[in-house]
Amino acid sequence: MRLSILFSLPLLNVASAEDGSQGWLRYAPIANANDYITVPSRVVALNVTRGSPVYTAQQELERGIKGIFGKQLETNSSVTSNSSAIIVGTLDAYRAAYGDLEDVGDLLDDGFFLSTEGLSVIIVGNNERGVLYGAFEYLSRLAQGRFLPISTMYNPQAPIRWTNEWNNLDGSIERGYAGPSIFFRDGFVVDNVTRVSGYARLLASIRVNGIVINNVNANATLLNDRNLQGLGRLADAMRPYGIQLGISLNFASPQDFGGLPSFDPLDPKVDAWWANITDEVYKRVPDMAGYLVKANSEGQPGPLTYNRTLADGANMFARAVKPHGGLVMFRAFVYDNHISPANWTADRANAAVDFFQHLDGKFDENVVVQIKYGAIDFQVREPANPLFSTLRNTSTSIELQITPEYFGQNDHLVYLGPLWKEILETDMRADSRPSKIKDIVSGIRFKRPLGGYAGVSGVGTNATWLGSHLAMSNLYAYGRLAWDASQDAEDVLQDWIRLTFGFDEQVMEIITDMSMKSWPAYENYSGNLGIQTLTDILYTHFGPNPASQDNNGWGQWTRADKVSIGMDRTVKNGTGNAGQYSPELASMYENIETTPDNLLLWFHHVPYTQRLKSNKTVIQHFYDAHYEGAATAQKFVEQWESLKGKVDEERYENVLFEQKFQAGHALVWRDSINQFYYNLSEIPDVAKRVGNHPYRIEAEKMSLSGYQFCAVNPFHTASGAMAIVTTSNTTTGTATANITFASGRYDIAVNYFDLIGGRAKYQLDVGNQTVGRWIGDNEDKLGHAPSIYLDGHSATRITFKGVDVRQGDVVRITGQANGNEPAPLDYISFLPPGIVD
Ligand SMILES: *[C@@H]1O[C@H](CO)[C@@H](O)[C@H](O)[C@H]1NC(C)=O
Ligand SMILES: *[C@@H]1O[C@H](CO)[C@@H](O)[C@H](O)[C@H]1NC(C)=O
Ligand SMILES: *[C@@H]1O[C@H](CO)[C@@H](O)[C@H](O)[C@H]1NC(C)=O
Ligand SMILES: *[C@@H]1O[C@H](CO)[C@@H](O)[C@H](O)[C@H]1NC(C)=O
Ligand SMILES: *[C@@H]1O[C@H](CO)[C@@H](O)[C@H](O)[C@H]1NC(C)=O
Ligand SMILES: *[C@@H]1O[C@H](CO)[C@@H](O)[C@H](O)[C@H]1NC(C)=O
Ligand SMILES: *[C@@H]1O[C@H](CO)[C@@H](O)[C@H](O)[C@H]1NC(C)=O
Ligand SMILES: *[C@@H]1O[C@H](CO)[C@@H](O)[C@H](O)[C@H]1NC(C)=O
Ligand SMILES: *[C@@H]1O[C@H](CO)[C@@H](O)[C@H](O)[C@H]1NC(C)=O
Ligand SMILES: *[C@@H]1O[C@H](CO)[C@@H](O)[C@H](O)[C@H]1NC(C)=O
Ligand SMILES: *[C@@H]1O[C@H](CO)[C@@H](O)[C@H](O)[C@H]1NC(C)=O
Ligand SMILES: *[C@@H]1O[C@H](CO)[C@@H](O)[C@H](O)[C@H]1NC(C)=O
Repeated sequence: MRLSILFSLPLLNVASAEDGSQGWLRYAPIANANDYITVPSRVVALNVTRGSPVYTAQQELERGIKGIFGKQLETNSSVTSNSSAIIVGTLDAYRAAYGDLEDVGDLLDDGFFLSTEGLSVIIVGNNERGVLYGAFEYLSRLAQGRFLPISTMYNPQAPIRWTNEWNNLDGSIERGYAGPSIFFRDGFVVDNVTRVSGYARLLASIRVNGIVINNVNANATLLNDRNLQGLGRLADAMRPYGIQLGISLNFASPQDFGGLPSFDPLDPKVDAWWANITDEVYKRVPDMAGYLVKANSEGQPGPLTYNRTLADGANMFARAVKPHGGLVMFRAFVYDNHISPANWTADRANAAVDFFQHLDGKFDENVVVQIKYGAIDFQVREPANPLFSTLRNTSTSIELQITPEYFGQNDHLVYLGPLWKEILETDMRADSRPSKIKDIVSGIRFKRPLGGYAGVSGVGTNATWLGSHLAMSNLYAYGRLAWDASQDAEDVLQDWIRLTFGFDEQVMEIITDMSMKSWPAYENYSGNLGIQTLTDILYTHFGPNPASQDNNGWGQWTRADKVSIGMDRTVKNGTGNAGQYSPELASMYENIETTPDNLLLWFHHVPYTQRLKSNKTVIQHFYDAHYEGAATAQKFVEQWESLKGKVDEERYENVLFEQKFQAGHALVWRDSINQFYYNLSEIPDVAKRVGNHPYRIEAEKMSLSGYQFCAVNPFHTASGAMAIVTTSNTTTGTATANITFASGRYDIAVNYFDLIGGRAKYQLDVGNQTVGRWIGDNEDKLGHAPSIYLDGHSATRITFKGVDVRQGDVVRITGQANGNEPAPLDYISFLPPGIVD
C-alpha cells in the first residue's frame, strides 16, 4: 500500500558528512514538520521487559521522533483515557490493558496493526517482533513525510525471511566486498557485538527475522566451546531486534570435529552425536532458528558419500533440531562440477531437479529446501529454477544474492529489485494453474506450512555495510520483497531513496533513473540473450573472460565456436532442460520462435547470424548491446555530478568515485566481449566500431624508455592485446608519443591495470603541462575481488576532462613501479567532445 506525500516539504540545507552507517535509519530532521502533524508526546510500552523487542520498539520510537522532530518522548508507563500517546504492545497486552481493539483483522505471526487515525497512535503486533516492525513502519512513514492517517493491518507473505552471511571463522567473507566479518575474527566469534546489534537493527526495520552467520562452506570448529559461547553472545545481541540466529554446518563434523569414524547419516552414533551437539547449541541459544546445510556440492561432504539420499542427510539434522523447534534449510545447489563439456546432453542446469525430484515428500516437516533463483548460479539473467514447480510436497525457499557476486561486486551500480521481482512474478504454470514463484515459496501454492526467503548478504565492517552507499538499496529491497513480493521494485527503491537521501526531487529522479537502468545496462555490457554473466568464473567473478566458461567441468558453458553459440537445452536435440518445466513453459522454451530473446542462448544453440525478434542478428545484438550498456554507464557519472551540493560531500564523493570507475570498467567489458566474439566469429560490426579505435594511442606503439611490452591474458582485455610494464618492479619508465590529433580541447582517458600488491605512481604530461598524477591504489578504495594480473579485473580507466591539446605536442606518461605493480599501461584516448572510446 502506498500513500503519496501529503505536503511538499521544505528543504533543509545539505546535511553534514554521512558515513552510511545508519543506512536508511537516519531519522534526518524534517524542517517545520511540526506545523503539519501532531505526534504524541509520550510512548507507552505495554508489558515491557528490558531487552525485548517491545522495549526496542519504545527506544527506537524515542530515537526516531527525536531525530525527525527534535522532540523527546516521555516514557510514562501509564496512559490516561483522554491524553494522546504512542501505544506499543502485543495484541494480547493491548487487550489486557484496554479491552478489545476494533478493525485489527487476523494477524499472522510477525504481523502488526498500525493506526494513526485516533488521538493516540496504536501499534500492536501479533507477537513482540510484530510490535517492533510496527514501530519501524510508523517511523518510516514519518521519516518519509507520509503523514496521512491510516489504520492498516500488515502480514508477512512467508514465515522465513533470513539473510545468509557467508562469513568464515578467520574473519574473511566469501563473496563479500565490504571488509572483514562483523561476526568472526581469527577463528572465533568476536567479542565486540556493537556492529552485530547495528546490523540486526537495520534488518529488523525491513522485517528480516533470521541471520545465518557463517559460510555454507562451513568449518566444524564453529562448534567448539568458545564459539558456542560466542554464538550465545551474538544471539543475545540480535534478540532485542526479534532476529534469530542460525548456523551453517559442515556435514562431516562428527568425523572431523567429533572424532567419530564416520558421518553416515544413518549411523545411530552419528545421530546421537548431532543430537548432543544440538542440545549444546540450544543451551547457549535457546531460540536458535536452525541449521543451513550445503552438502555434496563443490567438494563439500554429504550423505552421498555413504550412498544415502540427500533427504537422509537433511532429516538427520531435522531430528536433532526438532525437539527445540528448529528448522533445517537444505540447499538444492547440488551438482557435479566435473561434467564433461564434450557431452552435448550433459547440463549442470538439470542437476537440481535430477537430484531432488525423486525425494519430493521424503523430507521431514521441519526441512525447507533452499533453491537458488536460477538453475546455475546468480547469473545476470536466468529463467526461474525448474525445481520450484517440481517439489510439491516439500517446503521450499528462494535463495537470492544481495551481494552482487556476478554483478560488479558493488563497484558497479546494479539495483537488483527488478531482477528479483521478475523471478518472483514468474508463473511456473504447475498443473496449468497460476503458480507464481512468490506463491510457491510462501507456501500458498502447494499448501506448505513453511517457506520463504534467504538473501546472501555480504555485509562487512565497512561503514557503509556493503562497501557502497548505493548498494544498500539492494539490502533494503530484499527485506521489503521478502515480506511482500507484490510490491513494486521502483516504489520500494524510492522509499529507500527518501530515507537515505531526503526529499530533493532531483535527487529522487536521478537515483531512481540510474538504479532502474542499472540492471539492463549491466546485462547489456556483460552477457546478453541469456548467455550468462561472461565473467571469469575460474578467478574473481568480476571482469570479463568469456572463454573461462567453456571447456571445463563447471558446466557454465556457452558452447561458443566459430559459427555458433548457446546451450542447446531442448528436449528434441539437447540437454532436455526445457522439459524440466511444466508443459506450457517447456513448449515455449523448446522452440526458438517462442523463446524470449533474452533467454535465447540459455535454451538454444544458434549461429551468430540467427535473427532475433528485432531482426538483428545475435552477433550484431551483442555488439550493439555492449555499446549501449557502456554508454548508459557513462551517463551515470554526469547524472550523479548533477547532484553536487544536493548530497552531502562524503557520500557525493564516494559515489562519484565508484561511478567513474564503473564507467571506465564498462568500456573494458564492452571492448573485451566484443573483441572476443569478433575474433571468434570474424563477423564485423555493421557500425564499424568493434576493433576500430581512432582516438587511441596504444601504449605499445609509443616510444618507450624503462618500459617493455607485455602480452595480456586474456588478450581481449587489453586494447590491441598488448600493454607495457616497467622493466623492473623498482624502476620508473616513460612512454611518449607525438600528438597527431587536431589542436583542440579533449578529454584524455588513460587505461591502465591496477593490481593488488602494489601502488604504482603515474603522471600524465601533455606538452609542457602536467595534466594529472594518480596512484594505482584501487585496492584501498574499491571492494571488488582484486587481481594480481593484467586482466579484465584490474583494467581501469582514469579520465582528465577538458585538456587543451596542440597538434605536435608530446604526450608523456611516467610510471613508477611499486610492489608487484609494474605501472602497467594499456592506451591513451584523446576524446573530442561527445565521444567516449
Ligand atoms: C506479558 O509478558 C510475559 C512475558 O514477558 C508473557 O508471559 C505474558 O503473557 C504477557 N502478558 C500479556 C497480557 O500479554
Ligand atoms: C577451520 O577454522 C580453523 C580455525 O580458524 C582453521 O584453523 C582451519 O584451517 C579451518 N578449516 C578449513 C577447512 O578452512
Ligand atoms: C566496539 O565496536 C564499536 C563499533 O565498531 C566501536 O565504536 C567501539 O569502540 C567498540 N568497543 C570496544 C570496547 O572496543
Ligand atoms: C556433548 O557435546 C559436548 C560439547 O561438544 C561434549 O563436551 C560432550 O562430551 C558431549 N556429550 C556426549 C555424550 O557426547
Ligand atoms: C547405493 O544404493 C542404491 C539404492 O539403494 C543401490 O542400488 C546401490 O547398489 C548402492 N551402491 C553402493 C555402492 O552401495
Ligand atoms: C552425457 O550426459 C548425459 C546426461 O548427464 C548422461 O546421461 C550420458 O551418460 C552422458 N554421456 C556420456 C557418453 O558420458
Ligand atoms: C543437434 O545436436 C548436435 C550435437 O549432438 C549438434 O551438433 C547439432 O547442431 C544440433 N542440431 C540442431 C538442429 O540444433
Ligand atoms: C531482416 O533483415 C534482413 C537483413 O537486413 C532483411 O533482408 C529482411 O528483410 C529483414 N526482415 C524483416 C522481417 O524485416
Ligand atoms: C616526434 O616527432 C619528432 C619530429 O617529427 C621526432 O623526432 C620524434 O621521434 C617523435 N617522437 C615520437 C615519440 O614519436
Ligand atoms: C607552455 O606551452 C605554451 C604553448 O606552447 C606556452 O604558451 C607556455 O608559455 C608554456 N609554458 C611554460 C611554463 O613553458
Ligand atoms: C568502505 O569501502 C569503500 C569501498 O570499498 C572504501 O572506499 C572505504 O575506504 C571503506 N571505508 C571503511 C571505513 O572501511
Ligand atoms: C614484481 O612483479 C612481478 C609481476 O607483477 C611479481 O611476480 C613479483 O613478485 C614482483 N616482485 C616484487 C619484489 O614485488
